[in-house]
Amino acid sequence: MNAPPNGLLRQTSIYLAGVSGRRPRVPTDATQLEQRAETEMSRDAFAYIAGGAGTGATMRANRQAFDKHRIVPRMLRDVSKRDQRIELLGRTMPSPFLVAPIGVLEMVDRKADVAVARAARTHGIGMVLSNQASRPMEQVTKALGDTPRWFQLYWSTEDELVASFARRAEKTGCDAIVITLDTTLLGWRTHDLDRAYLPFLRGKGIAQYTSDEVFRRIMRTPTDPAPTPRPTLNAIRTLVQLIRAYPERFNPADARAAVQRFTQIYSRPSLEWDTLRFLRERTKLPILLKGILHPDDASRAVEEGIDGIVVSNHGGRQVDGSIATLDALPGIAAAVDGRMPVLFDSGIRSGADVFKALALGADAVLLGRPYAYGLAIAGERGVAEVLENFQADFDLTMGLSGCTSVAEITREALADA
Ligand code: FNR
Ligand code: LAC
Repeated sequence: MNAPPNGLLRQTSIYLAGVSGRRPRVPTDATQLEQRAETEMSRDAFAYIAGGAGTGATMRANRQAFDKHRIVPRMLRDVSKRDQRIELLGRTMPSPFLVAPIGVLEMVDRKADVAVARAARTHGIGMVLSNQASRPMEQVTKALGDTPRWFQLYWSTEDELVASFARRAEKTGCDAIVITLDTTLLGWRTHDLDRAYLPFLRGKGIAQYTSDEVFRRIMRTPTDPAPTPRPTLNAIRTLVQLIRAYPERFNPADARAAVQRFTQIYSRPSLEWDTLRFLRERTKLPILLKGILHPDDASRAVEEGIDGIVVSNHGGRQVDGSIATLDALPGIAAAVDGRMPVLFDSGIRSGADVFKALALGADAVLLGRPYAYGLAIAGERGVAEVLENFQADFDLTMGLSGCTSVAEITREALADA
């Protein structure tokens, strides 16, 4: 069992290390964290991870929405003992947050998802495994031990592959499948477009596919031949990257075929409510929907027997000018009215942000970019520090606001700015 999160201990250990001249390698401040990470990353990687859709208006809105609410601390309430545990889908979680699915982490660290899993395990914090992970779920779940894990699914055009991913999620002990709905097409991401860089075309972020029997079969069925790129130095470099991404021995044809097939079948823009029944009939696991922003979609999810939702705009990476998730949350929470768990992400950068999301109706939140930055700075240790800092910050915010448990964090704790 991990020791319960304790902000005071974390704070004290940082200050004491300072007495011996050591400062945290992983900054506690979110802006500093991003800036430090940038210095540790390639320009392509930073553009991909930090970037949003279009002008970045959604990312800005996500942050601004938090500033519209202020915490109103209450005094003299004995906050000497604080408990940030929650119950979620029948399991006890040590903190009201999980690690969000983030694809292509090999761009910042060789151990990628495995490093994140080890860090999550250190604190018992649940991890949502990305469909676009850099390591197959079998490897990542091994590193997780018995830490809670959910699998995030992008619905492929190939039903057989969807069923195969779901089977593997069950086999690897996932507690739920999270279908991400907001990325059936990739948003207009100016940072990546201007660098003409998409990691998947370099064979990165497709490990769930290349490790899948069904995908390998689909991959080998003939399609139109891929246009062979002109043999420039860059094209050859890319080919070498592709071959490395493929888990078997040197095989340029397979490596190219994998990427080509992936781009053809990765997602299904025709997805609609009825399609979801396919998965319902094939798995007993709870199904959550990620990317919900309208109360009517949340109500429909309840009617369709869905087990939970994630209020998310994908960290502002999909629709530029989209509603901020914190602005969408209260209406959605009211529509759901406790009938299923409501999770939340996009823009969480501090313990206070977690507190505000819970006060406005979220049952738990997903932490996104900050842990990827921790990974870029210091690998597994960096992720562990980011998670520990969130736990500590949240613990202190909760106590100083007069709350000793997550259940006490309600709308009454907030005022409009
Ligand atoms: C993501 N996100 C994401 N979501 C998902 O369902 N599957 C995925 O593979 C990915 N991949 C991914 C890559 C990168 C680089 C980022 C930044 C994000 C979205 C993620 O789960 C989450 O919704 C956002 O990260 C939340 O926004 P913030 O808090 O990170 O700004
Ligand atoms: C992204 C995909 C992988 O946001 O979800 O880049």
